[in-house]
Amino acid sequence: MAPNALDADTIIQRVAPITDRHGPEIQPFGHLVSMPIALSASVCRESVDNLNQLLADTMTLRDMYKKHHWQVAGPTFAQLHQLFDKHYREQNDLVDGIAERIQLLGGVSIAMAHDVAETTIIPRVPRGREAAPVQLSRLLHAHEIVLKEARTMARLAAEQRDDGTNDLLVSDVIRANELQVWFVGEHTVELPLVYSRERA
Ligand SMILES: [Fe+2]
Repeated sequence: MAPNALDADTIIQRVAPITDRHGPEIQPFGHLVSMPIALSASVCRESVDNLNQLLADTMTLRDMYKKHHWQVAGPTFAQLHQLFDKHYREQNDLVDGIAERIQLLGGVSIAMAHDVAETTIIPRVPRGREAAPVQLSRLLHAHEIVLKEARTMARLAAEQRDDGTNDLLVSDVIRANELQVWFVGEHTVELPLVYSRERA
């Protein structure tokens, strides 16, 4: 063996995956890093706080869609099963956009389910299975909560000249939620019975 060569046991120890590393957070939640994006610290803070609330509610709405995708029942099963999964994917894209905007502004985005549960203002959904009309009503209510806060946040961002946040809220969040409300809402309409003239 060469003078400085390592024996096989030492090499094996060094290449084993390390699972017990611990350390302080590199950025505590609620503390902003100053980013060179020509926005004041106070504007960034307000947008980060607003976007984290919107993020928690959007993650909740996204997960409601997956729950309802799995648990839907009844004669419209196939249609709703597919619609709910499409909306889940679209909400998931919004979640990514909102979270990355928070990081871009120098903040820390919430990410984990327990933090989302503590933050969201959407009413808690039961673990059990619910009938399709109840699922649809829940979704419409959650969408309206998200739309109401997103409109307020968009106005505030515009006033503060945070154009990127305003654009995300208006072009992505508000438009996507409005469109989903249309598709979900049409499943709740109770149409009048239609008779042929001979039978009337
Ligand atoms: Fe699926």
